[in-house]
Amino acid sequence: MSEQRTIRLTVNGASFEREVEPRRLLADFLREDLGLTGTHIGCEHGVCGACTIILDGDSARSCLTLAVQADGAQVQTVEGLGTVDALHPLQRAFREHHALQCGFCTPGMLMAALDLLRKHPSPTEREIREGLSGNLCRCTGYEHIVRAVRTAAAAGETVGAETETASAAPPREAGAGAQSRGSARE
Ligand code: FES
Ligand code: FES
Repeated sequence: MSEQRTIRLTVNGASFEREVEPRRLLADFLREDLGLTGTHIGCEHGVCGACTIILDGDSARSCLTLAVQADGAQVQTVEGLGTVDALHPLQRAFREHHALQCGFCTPGMLMAALDLLRKHPSPTEREIREGLSGNLCRCTGYEHIVRAVRTAAAAGETVGAETETASAAPPREAGAGAQSRGSARE
């Protein structure tokens, strides 16, 4: 095992300090060390977008980011959006428009859409398609996803104002709920 580094970061409003190997991917850190398995891992080389998170205000591929690169950063994952009882406007729109089937791409889609709407609150359809072009979905054909994002934008709700209760909810501690690398991707 190589030398450990101490990182401090904020994830969904909660502060963490952890020891990590320098080679540890942020996606694995979130899923396995913090138990935040909402961030999915698909291709693991920056193509599918399933692992998209928000890192210091911009969407990022957590499979291409080392955990040590997030030292001092503000991270938001899909767990920081809404809750089952208080869905985020984007989540409500995805449900309303049937914008998911298997759901594997959905966390990444939501985070990419969040980044898009924060920067372009009233996007055209073309801007939505371009904004989500880095996220692959093998089920929906994208039409319903685009509709959902249009609906969320048209609703005029501030997508940047995350559900405070969701953001403040403390993620599980290290190890709790962690899955093996293989099973985590099923
Ligand atoms: S798992 Fe990161 S882009 Fe596919
Ligand atoms: S809903 Fe299945 S990959 Fe998008």
